[in-house]
Amino acid sequence: MPIISGPTSSGPTSSGPTSSGPHRGGKLVVVGQGYVGLPLAMRAVEVGWSVVGLDTDEHRVKRLSAGESYVEDVSSADLLATLESGNYQASTDPAACADFYVAVITVPTPLHEGAPDLSFIEKGTTTVARYLRPGATVVLESTTYPGTTEELVGPILEAGSGLTAGADFHLGYSPERIDPGNATYGLVTTPKVVSGIDAASLAAVQGFYDTIVETTVPVSNPKVAEMTKLLENTFRHVNIALVNELAMFAADLGVDVWEAIDAASTKPFGFMRFTPGPGVGGHCLPIDPSYLSWRVRRLLGQQFRLIELANDVNDHMPDFVVQRLVLALNRKQRAVNGSRVLLLGLAYKANTSDSRHSPSVVVAERLLALGAQVRAADPHVVEDYTDGRVVRVKATAEEVAAADAVILLADHDAFDLDLVWSSARYVLDTRHRLRPGPQVEYL
Ligand SMILES: NC(=O)c1ccc[n+]([C@@H]2O[C@H](COP(=O)([O-])OP(=O)(O)OC[C@H]3O[C@@H](n4cnc5c(N)ncnc54)[C@H](O)[C@@H]3O)[C@@H](O)[C@H]2O)c1
Repeated sequence: MPIISGPTSSGPTSSGPTSSGPHRGGKLVVVGQGYVGLPLAMRAVEVGWSVVGLDTDEHRVKRLSAGESYVEDVSSADLLATLESGNYQASTDPAACADFYVAVITVPTPLHEGAPDLSFIEKGTTTVARYLRPGATVVLESTTYPGTTEELVGPILEAGSGLTAGADFHLGYSPERIDPGNATYGLVTTPKVVSGIDAASLAAVQGFYDTIVETTVPVSNPKVAEMTKLLENTFRHVNIALVNELAMFAADLGVDVWEAIDAASTKPFGFMRFTPGPGVGGHCLPIDPSYLSWRVRRLLGQQFRLIELANDVNDHMPDFVVQRLVLALNRKQRAVNGSRVLLLGLAYKANTSDSRHSPSVVVAERLLALGAQVRAADPHVVEDYTDGRVVRVKATAEEVAAADAVILLADHDAFDLDLVWSSARYVLDTRHRLRPGPQVEYL
């Protein structure tokens, strides 16, 4: 599908909505103040929008209103400054949406019993519909299967407002590409794919994001934009599964998979570096590809085999980590049962506090079930998913030395890896971050 080159020149038609394009100073509503919505809200205030951050979670709204950020990419200092500007308000009250010019929906899209759960999108859109006025623009950012914007969001907006999409208001989809903890590419510097249900909607959506990010990439319709996001995440998911499966076989073949990956990465074309790990986590990889495979199964009656295989391989990784630990303890004539195991990192990736679907949590559960005394250090993760059964500790030299085994699961910069190396009796390093030593084993 060709990408329209350059910004479109098409504005509203005479029969279409009466206003489009950037309108800084106007009211922007961001529905959902999470990892995606909060950074967007902060950036929008910075460039001149007057922003309402709507969220149904009272606790979150209280924290935001007190200037306390729970998202790494937004510092509390920046949040406070934004609040003080008078151009940002966090609220649970739908009435705060009144008179919005642009609404962006950034609510969760989880799986429920293996199927897409679009209930958050439905509820968020229903709220927006009540305050939708002619000329306004609505953009969906939540990750979802192709067709959601036109088949679900549009009809809800029309039913709730009495207006007609395209004729009375603009509608589009723009996937979020935020990579929590990435210091190089952030919201502003990562190109943003934008789409609209018609030329005027595309112009409005692109006009809005042109005020927010450096580069917008228009595509011809929302389905392409929805697919783009799923393609990106499926690409990662499948390639991670490839190196994970390779890691499972390589040790038995007597090959250092990490060295092979490093060597392959010297090829300047046709290869992209992915590294093995304890599994995939967060809100994206364990979920998004299944939105695509579900849609393919539901609409076409076909299996998206690569996605299902990748799910299978990546879901198995925490078990493989535990199996490696069992073997290592066995070599020392120790049982897992009763052994003291220190997990370093509960988050699913380095330098984030996100432990949703984290493989570390699965590893902890498996070890607890085997009778291990599980302790965990993670300076970023506050939540406890194990009802206190995992003892939360700091990664001090004493703590590391007291463990029969240490597993490095999320390689946060905050961990002193030299200390871990010199204090540990045995480390299973799933991220290949420690220098070699007799006490170090790699995944
Ligand atoms: N986190 C990421 O790295 C990332 C990256 C790209 C895309 N996405 C996608 O963006 C979407 C949001 O993800 P997130 O990580 O920001 O989720 P999140 O859970 O961090 O935040 C979502 C917020 O929406 C709020 N919410 C739920 N229903 C609501 C409603 N009806 N009205 C108002 N607020 C409501 C929740 O209380 C929560 O605070 C998902 O579809 C996700 O797949 C996430």
